[in-house]
Amino acid sequence: MELRINGAAYQVEAQADTPLLWVLRDDLGLTGTKYGCGLAQCGACSVLVDGVVVRACVTPVAGVEGREVSTIEAIEDDPVGKKVVAAWVEHQVAQCGYCQSGQVMAATALLKHTPNPSNEQIDAAMVNLCRCGTYNAIHAAMHALAQGEKA
Ligand code: FES
Ligand code: FES
Repeated sequence: MELRINGAAYQVEAQADTPLLWVLRDDLGLTGTKYGCGLAQCGACSVLVDGVVVRACVTPVAGVEGREVSTIEAIEDDPVGKKVVAAWVEHQVAQCGYCQSGQVMAATALLKHTPNPSNEQIDAAMVNLCRCGTYNAIHAAMHALAQGEKA
């Protein structure tokens, strides 16, 4: 099947129900998207499909055929994603970093559709887990972005 990922076309051979995460990481070498729980619980595997955040560990690859998949590798090609990354750096969000590609994808998805989210909208959207407990820094970065502060 043909997939569109970060603006490029890829031919992949996979069973229709293979998780998108496996194809990204194992077949295409796009290892910025992480495997955490494999159960749609942690968000480490978050990617965008047509601008909406999805959990790649439970998304069958056939379900994204003909749709635009965006991963962390190209997030700075997106103007919103670029601002999110800059805010993450400014607020020194990452600790071990393992969860952060998923966090950035979730933040980008929220801000693309809701440029000035309320506290409640940030809380509702930013639900990915972080074993390092970077939640305060994530929220500080998100609030700075929501208020239009220069990252
Ligand atoms: S690895 Fe997909 S949600 Fe945890
Ligand atoms: S920064 Fe380590 S798990 Fe989130």
